[in-house]
Amino acid sequence: MEFKHKIAVVTGAARGIGLAVCQALVAEGCKVVIVDINAEAAEQAAEAIRQSGGEALALACDVSSDSQVAAVGLAVQQAFGDADILINNAVAHLLAPGNVDDIDLDRWSRALDINVLGYVRMLKAFLPAMLARGSGYVVTTSSSLAILPNAATRHMLPYITSKGAALGLSYGLSHALRSRGIVSSVFCPGLTDTSGTGITKVKALGFMEGLSAKLVEPATSASAASILLDGMRREDALICSHEDWEASLELFAQNRLDPLSAFQ
Ligand SMILES: NC(=O)c1ccc[n+]([C@@H]2O[C@H](COP(=O)([O-])OP(=O)(O)OC[C@H]3O[C@@H](n4cnc5c(N)ncnc54)[C@H](O)[C@@H]3O)[C@@H](O)[C@H]2O)c1
Repeated sequence: MEFKHKIAVVTGAARGIGLAVCQALVAEGCKVVIVDINAEAAEQAAEAIRQSGGEALALACDVSSDSQVAAVGLAVQQAFGDADILINNAVAHLLAPGNVDDIDLDRWSRALDINVLGYVRMLKAFLPAMLARGSGYVVTTSSSLAILPNAATRHMLPYITSKGAALGLSYGLSHALRSRGIVSSVFCPGLTDTSGTGITKVKALGFMEGLSAKLVEPATSASAASILLDGMRREDALICSHEDWEASLELFAQNRLDPLSAFQ
């Protein structure tokens, strides 16, 4: 796809990978809409983009709210017109060490409401205009852990469940939308440091103990964003920023998708 003059809506873009994606899209000539529950950080991010000559709009929105997401749809239409690109990226990590039997239903429910249904709400707000036009691009953010599930997943059950759902959602969208002119890609970031400290939250919580140094080494948000845009340029169905993910996926397949055998 060509990025120049496109209108891109990115959720969870006040910080982290989402913000880096917005900055990269602006550098390619897109107008961006930063949708985030953190209104102040979203406005600061949009202002920084405007100060450097780009076009950005910040919209405060909790993607678990039907009415707030619908309002975002109207606000984007009024400010910029029809969106060309929707990048569903917002995440509630809801990480807390614990065994499967310690996780209360509320944590499962909130993870799915934000990380999965939040994506669906955004699709409902933006897909109709794309379908009417017969063009558009939808990115669904999953995780490298959804395709290469190492032992850290045992500490992140609601999260990894939501990321598996995002993967399935994107596969279905590819089948449903391609013949109607809309491209669907799933983005599977590898471990990415969004704090700027070099230490990710999952490492700080001890989720990665026992894993190889290569798995624990995070990439930067800027490099993850760059890999996403390269994949979107090619319209790849699956875009992953985990190093050597294809070889790891082959090993996983050779081990009949047994995560205990493939990721020791
Ligand atoms: N960072 C990693 O190592 C990593 C690895 C694999 C996948 N991912 C995926 O990449 C995406 C971005 O991750 P990140 O690490 O940059 O996240 P982050 O925590 O740095 O940022 C997430 C953003 O989402 C916003 N947000 C949270 N709840 C929201 C809600 N209800 N409505 C709207 N916005 C909300 C937050 O305010 C924040 O700005 C996520 O989908 C995540 O699952 C990240």
